[in-house]
Amino acid sequence: RLYAAITGIGGYIPANTRSNSDLEKICDTSDEWIVKRTGIKERRILEEDLATSDMAVRAIEDLAAKYNKNLHDIDALLVATSTPDMPMPATANIIADKLGLDNVWAFDMNAACSGFLYALDLGASLIETRRYKNVLVVGADNISTYVDIHDRSTNILFGDGAGVVWLEPSTEGGIMDAYLRSNGSGRSFLNIEGGGSLYPMDAEDAMADKRFLKQDGKTVFKHAVQSMSDACFQVMDRNGLTINDINWLVPHQANQRIIDAVGRALDIPEGRALSNIEYLGNTIAATIPLCIWQNLKQIKTGDLVMLTAFGAGFSWGASLFKW
Ligand code: ACO
Repeated sequence: RLYAAITGIGGYIPANTRSNSDLEKICDTSDEWIVKRTGIKERRILEEDLATSDMAVRAIEDLAAKYNKNLHDIDALLVATSTPDMPMPATANIIADKLGLDNVWAFDMNAACSGFLYALDLGASLIETRRYKNVLVVGADNISTYVDIHDRSTNILFGDGAGVVWLEPSTEGGIMDAYLRSNGSGRSFLNIEGGGSLYPMDAEDAMADKRFLKQDGKTVFKHAVQSMSDACFQVMDRNGLTINDINWLVPHQANQRIIDAVGRALDIPEGRALSNIEYLGNTIAATIPLCIWQNLKQIKTGDLVMLTAFGAGFSWGASLFKW
């Protein structure tokens, strides 16, 4: 069997930080409350004159430099994002142009916080067709643009960032399986309503409150824990694995309490559910590649890694990876 192996990984996090004490000055919250309820101490915020494509370009340049890759080898560039630079063209086209790639198959996918897992599975499928040999999968979001800085129910959670993996064919291992699902009836619990064709940005209500991310935090929390653990069980069951076979769990970084609850539901031994939420918060489609990127030293060749995500849609899933 031919697998899609990750042969390079890169990341970019903006330099500007927004700490809990910064938020204390803006709204009625406290460092103690935020840390206890979310595990987050600070997030990174992209400069106002930059956009999602700029972070993705830097993440790709980081990968290319560390793994000595020639960007002109790329056959396909898939970008998971909910915060494209603009409605049209795709951010993938903008990224390709900024990298000097004028002949690459490039497009965006939006599955919110599950976007990276969706794009990873599509990228792996392209490799498995044997028609593509070098596929870049990016997860990048400039979500701070859509967060109301005065809304304490969301401003504590989100930050900006970009991560990327390079996929190539391998007979040794790579993406072994993926279970991805969505249920659009959950869309009222987590969304950004304004700026699309339903509520265009020039409409008064879109400019007022519909431009910001809204959520019912408790409902999202409950569904996130249930759906991520269920997806992991589905993948383990159909591959004849138990949690003891999984070396690392890389969950979407939404809230440390969600990560811990998924870990408890799966009964994964302490320390094997990776987390980097403390200093980055929820970077939407970028959380999983950034978490792997920052924990790379721990993951050894041959390790089985379970990736799992949940996000707006609702959309969710899990992927099994042999490193
Ligand atoms: N600071 C201080 N107090 C606060 C804050 C805050 N930032 N936010 C809420 N409170 C208050 C509430 O008003 C409430 O007060 P009350 O008891 O007097 O009414 C109390 O704290 C408890 O509020 P809850 O909303 O019940 O707090 P909860 O424990 O549910 O935590 C949170 C809220 C952190 C948002 C949590 O529900 C959560 O993380 N949910 C998941 C959200 C998420 O991950 N979304 C994105 C995932 S998917 C994606 O990434 C696209």
